Amino acid sequence: MSSILITGGAGFIGTNSVLHWRKLQPLDRIVVLDALTYAGNRSNLDALAVDPAFTFVHGDICDGGLLKGLFERYDFQRVVHFAAESHVDRSIVSSEAFVRTNVLGTHALLEAARTAWRASPEGRRFHHISTDEVYGSLGPDDAPFTETTRYDPKSPYAASKAGSDFLARSYAHTYGLPVTISNCSNNYGPYQFPEKLVPLVILNALMGKPLPIYGDGMNVRDWLHVEDHCAAIALVVEKGRDGETYNIGGGQEMPNIELVGLLCDTIDARIVADPALATKFKDCPASNGRRCRDLMTFVPDRPGHDRRYAICADKLFNELGFRARISLADGMARTVDWYIGGEAWWQPIQSGAYRDWMKQQYGTAH
Ligand code: NAD
Ligand code: TYD
Repeated sequence: MSSILITGGAGFIGTNSVLHWRKLQPLDRIVVLDALTYAGNRSNLDALAVDPAFTFVHGDICDGGLLKGLFERYDFQRVVHFAAESHVDRSIVSSEAFVRTNVLGTHALLEAARTAWRASPEGRRFHHISTDEVYGSLGPDDAPFTETTRYDPKSPYAASKAGSDFLARSYAHTYGLPVTISNCSNNYGPYQFPEKLVPLVILNALMGKPLPIYGDGMNVRDWLHVEDHCAAIALVVEKGRDGETYNIGGGQEMPNIELVGLLCDTIDARIVADPALATKFKDCPASNGRRCRDLMTFVPDRPGHDRRYAICADKLFNELGFRARISLADGMARTVDWYIGGEAWWQPIQSGAYRDWMKQQYGTAH
């Protein structure tokens, strides 16, 4: 039996990863540390409420005293560090929280691990979760990002993640901390907060609200289902080499406008096939003989909007044998179904603080 600390385990990828880890390792002590910001939801982990080897700690990764106590108490063999401010648009409005959590918080966690593991680092692993956005933006014909692509972050979010990656690398190099890092492309799937493109489009379409397309809609992202991401992380945590970085991606690039079209068509098909859904989502165009695509609305572009991301995940395949398994069409259909059936999860978000924030920023809950 082993003991693992998962930071940010009440957020989107963290939640999926905690549930995945529990399936893989039924006996491990899992400790989740999460500050429960707007993006964290304690109830995501309700399935583990009666699990005697699960502990939820409501706290901040910047709190060095708290971290010291947790490392002393649980003697972690593994740390998987998800906790972050993660939304580019928010980082453009105000970046202070990004620097605080992503840079200073990661530093505090690295320090806690270094201090606690100094006497016996063998067999331990500190896995830092990062993003492909640290590499900057690709042109249409550029080769995908590899692990040696020069860092060139363009948004305050990406810059704060780049800073945290450099800190993690420096702790591996300087102190021999057993660090691995993974840089992943855009995730989608259950429990994603509806400020990100995929859940925002699904929920707005169901409610008959405009689907905001930034700029010309031709920005390209490389999409990966969160289950594939969690499987890749578990592999790197267990089998990755100390000090190494691994890119994780689905090899499934698509311009935003096409992706939004795919989601619209999937929702149309679901509603047409099931009259009960047409009654439930009565403002959805598909419930009224129209198409969700009619809701697509071009809006002013995001400042500094990265044009294209694409990941080369060959290292992960060559070293650890991992390839993404879930196709974009299947994964997006499953995600649409999860949100259609997940009103109990998203309704409180739609009616609460999130809507207030959107109103404050944009004057309307778009
Ligand atoms: P998220 O915003 O859904 O969740 C972040 C979680 O961190 C929340 O539960 C929040 O409460 C918690 N948190 C924030 N500040 C904290 C603090 N100071 N102390 C403790 N907990 C804190 O994010 P996500 O989309 O699940 O992303 C998780 C990680 O994966 C991040 O590091 C992100 O950079 C990285 N990543 C995300 C994507 C993506 O597409 N979402 C892609 C690549 C990498
Ligand atoms: P997002 O989900 O915010 O992820 P990221 O910025 O980390 O890639 O956005 C995905 C893409 O969709 C990105 O190119 C911005 C675009 N986008 C829209 O066109 N409209 C929206 O309302 C949002 C949130 C994003």
